[in-house]
Amino acid sequence: MEGRVVLSELENKVHAPSVDVADARQRDIERVLITEQQIQDKLRELGEQITRDYEGRELLLLGVLKGAFVMMADLSRHIRLPLEVDFMAVASYGAATKTSGVVRILKDLDHDLEGRDVLLIEDIVDSGLTLNYLLKNLRGRRPASLEVCALLKKTGIQRVHLDVKYVGFEIPPDFVVGYGLDFAERFRNLPYVGLLKPDAYSDT
Ligand code: IMP
Ligand code: MG
Repeated sequence: MEGRVVLSELENKVHAPSVDVADARQRDIERVLITEQQIQDKLRELGEQITRDYEGRELLLLGVLKGAFVMMADLSRHIRLPLEVDFMAVASYGAATKTSGVVRILKDLDHDLEGRDVLLIEDIVDSGLTLNYLLKNLRGRRPASLEVCALLKKTGIQRVHLDVKYVGFEIPPDFVVGYGLDFAERFRNLPYVGLLKPDAYSDT
């Protein structure tokens, strides 16, 4: 029967292993820092907290591309409120692992922020320079409120003072990849956060 064929084909696709996760882990990942389960548990917790904090209001989730795209998809499904999403693309790093302090807006928002309750979703706060720049820029657009939710925050190395209301995990100041975070655009699809082997980036 036609319907059955389609269904089983779909099932095969759903269960197909995703890209080269196992391969990447073997070759370039030193060790897993935060497991897939830990991330998912934390996002559920944050989603519940956000749902309580914004009760009766309508949220605008603002994702900072590209790193936040994975977290945005998972976190948004734990927020039990009417919400809209928008994305902004910025570049603060090239292919290297050190911040330049220079932030360029590559793609601006589609939404007008005036009077909106805005929650900015960031993958990681490292030096904090990117976030600092973004918050200044966004405040100028007169949102009713503006808070930040970051999956990761590196401990003790922020070069500016920042109020990050929701933080998933505080981590040591090492370079990490996975769950949206890249090195030279790779590893974003790993379901966990891991430490890169030094020789995976030492020659760049
Ligand atoms: P910051 O301006 O130094 O806080 O860096 C912000 C941006 O740099 C993040 O949104 C990431 O895209 C990138 N970044 C910072 N640390 C890491 C890391 O450990 N791995 C991958 N990307 C990082
Ligand atoms: Mg990056």
